[in-house]
Amino acid sequence: MSFEPVAITGDGRIGLCEPHIAGNEWTYIKECLDSGWVSSAGNFVERFERGIADYLGSAVEAVAVVNGTSALHTSLMIAGICQSHEVLMPALTFIAPANAVRYCGAWPVFLDVDRETWQLDPNTLSRFVSEECISRDGELINRFTGRRIKAVLPVDLLGHPVDIDPIIETARQHGLVVIEDATESLGAKYKGRPVGTLGDISCLSFNGNKLITTGGGGMIITKSPELALRARYLTTQAKDDPLEYIHGEVGFNYRLTNLQAAMGCAQLEQIDTFIKAKHAITARYNGAFSDLPGITPMPQAEWAQSVFWLYTVLVDEKQYGMNSRELMAKLGQAGVQTRPLWQPLHQSPALADCQGYQIVAAEEIGRNALSLPCSVGLLKEEQERVIQVIKEQMIGF
Ligand SMILES: Cc1ncc(COP(=O)(O)O)c(C=O)c1O
Repeated sequence: MSFEPVAITGDGRIGLCEPHIAGNEWTYIKECLDSGWVSSAGNFVERFERGIADYLGSAVEAVAVVNGTSALHTSLMIAGICQSHEVLMPALTFIAPANAVRYCGAWPVFLDVDRETWQLDPNTLSRFVSEECISRDGELINRFTGRRIKAVLPVDLLGHPVDIDPIIETARQHGLVVIEDATESLGAKYKGRPVGTLGDISCLSFNGNKLITTGGGGMIITKSPELALRARYLTTQAKDDPLEYIHGEVGFNYRLTNLQAAMGCAQLEQIDTFIKAKHAITARYNGAFSDLPGITPMPQAEWAQSVFWLYTVLVDEKQYGMNSRELMAKLGQAGVQTRPLWQPLHQSPALADCQGYQIVAAEEIGRNALSLPCSVGLLKEEQERVIQVIKEQMIGF
């Protein structure tokens, strides 16, 4: 398929990470409209599920849901997470996975990230489990809270995989379920294995800013047919008898619609060209910043094939002459949209009752990081303008 970048906003502003709609989206959505199959039944839902499963390439089951957050909520439920359990996760991430844990009545415990990868630090996880927890009757108990730890929820952050092997090793030693939040990193690989297949259960998002989008959407991925069946049941109102409306338990209306899935099928057809575009954008930025003191791109580990979903740099105030928020303001004045990363979750007022364990790197990265425009359709001239504004701010450059 040929790929022509298109101007993003048309108003001269350069957006951060905008959807790219250049394939069969209109055709497939029109098919839904023409046929009347617009809601949560229809061919496109199954086709999208099959398409994602095939793309991920191993024998996985895929269950389409309304967004990444519901994928996480459902994954936690099918993993048996409930009231008073705890789930270990990185402090540096979007709040959705922590919220999903709270929806279950369970508690997230926040651990630090690795400075080299920005992802959940496997050594911190191992240290936390061995020094801060005890094993009682085969269950892992957090000594500080007295609660049972049931799962670990690593996130593949910003298009880059988490170092999952040592995390799985720790999880297996202590009987923890691994739920991979791959919502930001479809297309990336860990030691050659596709992100989205690395956990016992993995979650994807097709939100508008993701590599491929359905407007809003998500997917639960698992190799276990039993778990997939349970996910399907819970996400479609837990219907035991659809004719007589008999429901075995409290379920959820989390099923993706055919309209959204139609868009997903069209987007999935373009994923390889989208990834190529992300790589080209990253190479241009990295080249431009290689001799610019104080601007350091997010690193890529040697075992990782990042998809560079959201291109992000660290701004060193001393070397660069201004901090990340000041640079964000300057770029904003120049019509360039940028964004800091998230408030580290142990500092979030929404999660004030949750435990954070020795968090240093996540705070530092959270303070200094800035994400730059990297839409698939970003024009070369637009990117050059972003680079120029960043270089101009540098005193004496
Ligand atoms: C790490 C992470 N987890 C979960 C989500 C939730 O996905 P959604 O917005 O589709 O609910 C997002 C982002 O949107 C995310 O960045």
